[in-house]
Amino acid sequence: MKKELLLKFEEVFGTEGDYQAYFAPGRVNLIGEHTDYNGGHVFPCALTIGTYAVARKREDKQLSFYSLNMMEKGVTVVSIDQLEYKKEDDWANYPKGVIWTMLKKGYKIENGMDILFYGNIPNASGLSSSASLEVLTGFILKNLFGLEVSLTEIALISQYTENNYNGVNCGIMDQFAVAMGKKNNAIFLDTADLSYEYAPLELDDAKIVIMNTNKKRGLGDSKYNERRSECESALADLQKVIPIKELGELSEYEFETHKEAIESPIQRQRAKHAVYENQRTIKAVQALKDNDITLFGKLMNASHISLQYDYEVTGIELDTIVEAAWKQDGVIGARMTGAGFGGCAVSIVREAAIANFIEKVGKEYKDKIGYEADFYVVEIGDGPVVL
Ligand code: GLA
Repeated sequence: MKKELLLKFEEVFGTEGDYQAYFAPGRVNLIGEHTDYNGGHVFPCALTIGTYAVARKREDKQLSFYSLNMMEKGVTVVSIDQLEYKKEDDWANYPKGVIWTMLKKGYKIENGMDILFYGNIPNASGLSSSASLEVLTGFILKNLFGLEVSLTEIALISQYTENNYNGVNCGIMDQFAVAMGKKNNAIFLDTADLSYEYAPLELDDAKIVIMNTNKKRGLGDSKYNERRSECESALADLQKVIPIKELGELSEYEFETHKEAIESPIQRQRAKHAVYENQRTIKAVQALKDNDITLFGKLMNASHISLQYDYEVTGIELDTIVEAAWKQDGVIGARMTGAGFGGCAVSIVREAAIANFIEKVGKEYKDKIGYEADFYVVEIGDGPVVL
């Protein structure tokens, strides 16, 4: 891979100067969905699929971006002094945005760069191709310009870029999981204060199987922002009766005691998900520590049901694929993953049952939905690296 990428870089940008290859992963979230903007816990892990890049510092102030996934767009050229968001720059707004944020935060980046990207995360699948691209850009900048910036800061810079440059009001989970990934470990992150712990993912004879509905997210972003504000309104109502800063502070019991303070029944439902999902995540990590994979799987299933009925972010495609998964032999648990409204679901399946699982779930999905799903048996990988 590295050799091929270096050759491509030379074809596009020539052979002068020093250039280096880099990689940052994608992520899958095992449990703890729509909790990260409510001060709750999440439990994602980095994947071995992700985004590759070859980059070189330039003498002048020109930034040239090229993607092997978007070759039809050619090389996007901008100046480091003109980094405002431009619709026509399309995907290049992601790396541009990260540079924009880092300059705004005072990091010293005085030269331009030539960067070639290649990603093998399926597009719009909810496996964080954008967070991967952003964190990778931050990591390249750190290396090329010798910046004193930690991986956690790179995650925060990337989230800031999504929120303030790309206009997506996301939480910290994706960028954090990409930046802090660790081989064979999931990350138990408390989004209230960014404290975290690695948890070895010992699944006995089982593996993570990602199921891609191939339904693109579409209206996802606006619905995502709508869910966020529903949680904010529910929190404001609760704050009239109980001194909390975020929904993630509540136990199930405390929520049940005070829930009538939330005036809107829909908002009450959304807040219920946020509170219960956070508690489920804490329980799931404990189950893993206790080596109780069966309980871990049950909590994954319960998470999906809550996302389906209380949070209402699944849809026919995700429900069909997850319900088909639940029926198969050797399945420990299955649920949607990421923002929802399409994209991927994640399941844990005993190795010996995987081939049959893929065939059966694939057939049931195609019969009902009319087009194919894709399946990836994945490994848990590290965060960003110089190749
Ligand atoms: C998207 C966002 C994350 C998180 C998930 C839902 O992936 O980027 O911050 O909110 O949705 O858990």
